[in-house]
Amino acid sequence: MCGIVGYVGNKQAAPFLLEGLSKLEYRGYDSAGVAVMTDEGIVVKKKKGRLAGLSEMIDGGNAIRGTMGIGHTRWATHGEPSDTNSHPHLSNSGRFAVVHNGIIENYLRLRDYLTKKGFEFISETDTEVIAHLFEYYYKGDIIDAMIKVINKVEGSYALGVLCADDPDSFIAVRKESPLIVGLGEGENFIASDIPAILSHTKNVYFLENNEIVILKKNQVKIINTDREEISKEVYVVDWDVSAAEKGGYEHFMFKEIMEQPRAIADTVSPRIKDGRIVLDDIMLTADYIRNINKVYIVACGSAYHVGVVGKYVIEQMNRIPVEVMVASEFRYCSPIIDEHTLVVLISQSGETADTIEAMREAKRLGSRTFAIVNAVGSTIAREADDVLYTWAGPEIAVATTKAYSTQLTAIYMLSLYFAQELDTISPELLRKYINALNALPDKIAGIVENKADIQYIASQYYSAKSVFFIGRTFDYAVALEGSLKLKEISYIHSEAYAAGELKHGTIALMEEGTVVVALCTVKKLFDKMLSNIKEVKARGAVVIAIAEEGHTEIEKEADHVIYVPKCDDLTMPSEVVVPLQLFSYYVASLKGLDIDKPRNLAKSVTVE
Ligand code: AGP
Repeated sequence: MCGIVGYVGNKQAAPFLLEGLSKLEYRGYDSAGVAVMTDEGIVVKKKKGRLAGLSEMIDGGNAIRGTMGIGHTRWATHGEPSDTNSHPHLSNSGRFAVVHNGIIENYLRLRDYLTKKGFEFISETDTEVIAHLFEYYYKGDIIDAMIKVINKVEGSYALGVLCADDPDSFIAVRKESPLIVGLGEGENFIASDIPAILSHTKNVYFLENNEIVILKKNQVKIINTDREEISKEVYVVDWDVSAAEKGGYEHFMFKEIMEQPRAIADTVSPRIKDGRIVLDDIMLTADYIRNINKVYIVACGSAYHVGVVGKYVIEQMNRIPVEVMVASEFRYCSPIIDEHTLVVLISQSGETADTIEAMREAKRLGSRTFAIVNAVGSTIAREADDVLYTWAGPEIAVATTKAYSTQLTAIYMLSLYFAQELDTISPELLRKYINALNALPDKIAGIVENKADIQYIASQYYSAKSVFFIGRTFDYAVALEGSLKLKEISYIHSEAYAAGELKHGTIALMEEGTVVVALCTVKKLFDKMLSNIKEVKARGAVVIAIAEEGHTEIEKEADHVIYVPKCDDLTMPSEVVVPLQLFSYYVASLKGLDIDKPRNLAKSVTVE
């Protein structure tokens, strides 16, 4: 996915565009560019590499004078990262400049069509097609041209478009890729996400699909493709700029690990009232829950890993069958769904294309959809039948931590809500679990206090070539997340494995010095995990164990032990993941890698 910003007002546009893009670099960062309306027409400056290079090239924006412009930071989909493939893209005459987030699926056909009409392409991107389409359709009315472009292209897009004939206004539109409008005093904005404009305004519109916005410095007009004006409700952002800043930490990821106690408290406490779970205005009635024949949990990446925990929790607590699937598979596996199936979508960004399409497929097949989302107003939040927000605040680091942890608490609360509404849980047990939820923030804060021990262990193994994460049931589910964290920020190959399954083949990979992280917190399976540790140690492995305080017998078997505070099996995954997050963070830090913006990744994958 990519980042888009746009500005029209009384101030110089280029410095704002650079500042806005710096808040969106987590969305993509292999190249960046700006287009500014100047007295000499549209000026485009763009280059491969990080935003800092572009900023240096245009002297922090001072090298381009103009009070209206658009900007872009790219995660390459079509065409390698290069100066030429960077956005904005110009039409041949230079009359139109376009920035785009998404994928134009019929771009090759359009490229061929336009080439035959005499248009010359200089990049390998799908986006350049849009710039030439505007040239092709434009007869003096930019809105008319926009509507024709929308009707011609297939795929997903958030677009910002400058037209040299309109020096005082620019236009934008979205379909599937998010785009917001920022409403200022004598200035207005567009952006892919709130952090880009939050230091200028808290008042935003969330654009819906095919809503076209025309921005002037003192006017914002939104119309549909029938040119009918649309009135929208202003959303007032309730978090402040500091929430999207590093706040003195070296990396957003570390800051967000530290924020987990607060994020969990903010997510849990509003949902516990008078000793009961209250899921906002969600109306899953006891009768509906009683008739659920299956729950699907569908998500991607870390959100999928939350779903694996959710399966164990919901099935053990409610005896409701749960199937967990990655969204990209769910869509194409002909899932068995009817009106008694509840499909739970989990997504931090609420804009993950695979999860959006899985949600739409689930609705098409007749199921009710329940979303657990962090980004307010995102596509999944708006289209699901029910949404339970995780109040983690903005998560900037590409590798998720606090959003994952708050999604876990949301899944626990959903499972408890089922049991509570079905009246299948005793008041004593409900109280016990609610107390466990309320105790989580302090327990996690306690784990983080021992971060130096984890940092020391990371210093012993940061040059490892491969690391295994093993566990059973809940611990296996968290092992999946620990393995992904290590891979995505340290680039070390890693594999999560059900500990009991190792002996069925994969143990052949164990040799002298193989690093194994063994998660041993599921009480009834502790002894089995001790045996698994012995198995891998016997083949030369080095074992880092995660265990609940008090289980000191593990020290006889493992090379290192990280203890987590005693707690209930239900909430133990929330504790166990924290040492794994810190281990990965310190390993990547010792390797000197770009922890917040790992190579090849983007914060939200809004393309399929
Ligand atoms: C997690 O650290 C990754 N950044 C990635 O796996 C992420 O969880 C996945 O892309 C899903 O994103 P979402 O929660 O925004 O849908």
